[in-house]
Amino acid sequence: MSNPSEAELIHMFKGILFTTRSSPELLHSLDTFDAREDDVLLVSYPKSGTHWLAGVITKLYNAQVTLTSPIEFGDISKLEELNKLSSKRIIPTHLDYNMLPPNFKNKKCKMIYISRNPKDTAVSMYHYYRDNPNLPTIDTWTAFFDLFLKGDVVCGSWFDHFLSWEEHENDKNILFLFYEDMKKDLPKIVKKISLFLGLNVSDNDIQDICKKSSFSEMKSDTEKENSDPSHTVCALTSNRKLIFRKGAVGDWKNHFTPKQNQRFEEIFNEKMKLSKM
Ligand code: A3P
Repeated sequence: MSNPSEAELIHMFKGILFTTRSSPELLHSLDTFDAREDDVLLVSYPKSGTHWLAGVITKLYNAQVTLTSPIEFGDISKLEELNKLSSKRIIPTHLDYNMLPPNFKNKKCKMIYISRNPKDTAVSMYHYYRDNPNLPTIDTWTAFFDLFLKGDVVCGSWFDHFLSWEEHENDKNILFLFYEDMKKDLPKIVKKISLFLGLNVSDNDIQDICKKSSFSEMKSDTEKENSDPSHTVCALTSNRKLIFRKGAVGDWKNHFTPKQNQRFEEIFNEKMKLSKM
């Protein structure tokens, strides 16, 4: 069987590339989505630690919530499917701020944005492209590096995504987190998340959650189960086994040439001129 063509795998919506697993009809209808005040949004650019954060949050709530698939994943029936859920919803999304259904903003739903060093994000995404049959074929790291810098990858430019959310960093209903901080001191960040969500969690439970959320635990949990579409919080795959690769900070150093690093820094400095990062 021949590989699917690029047009079968991706399409453009409002200037941003999506996989065809996000149907144009669904993307068009997102503006009409009926948010609930107690919805919690889990927001990220792909490969920033979404599954890690989702694992922590579901453990904090101790099974009283439904972790849905990403809001932009699926066809038009998605909105109805989410409407039918009676429990509290934790809704992941890779949408940038401007594309988010306005109801989430009007109702001041809690949102947690997780970000990661874009160099490591790029490397993680490169491997994801290579391993994921739902994404176009990429021949080399060099080719992917160029696409990433141009924003010609699924979910668009890392810079635009980050900046669209950073503008709202001080909104009371938005918590900004960094992957690297979770690596450095997970209990501290888990505590921060629990306070933001208004959950009363003991220090012992926090320690336990951190243990169960380590890279090795999460990876081996995934290897034990069969891949279940409802278990992925990435709009680009239903295969959880593709998620847990290395889980390290600084893997970019094994991929970037000095020249690529210089180019990345130049573009980063230019694009992020107004950012506090
Ligand atoms: P790498 O490809 O660098 O290993 P997302 O969930 O947003 O798709 O992000 C996936 C990235 O988060 C992968 O990065 C994955 O290994 C990493 N990751 C997942 N769970 C993790 C954990 N418990 N601890 C550290 N990193 C984790």
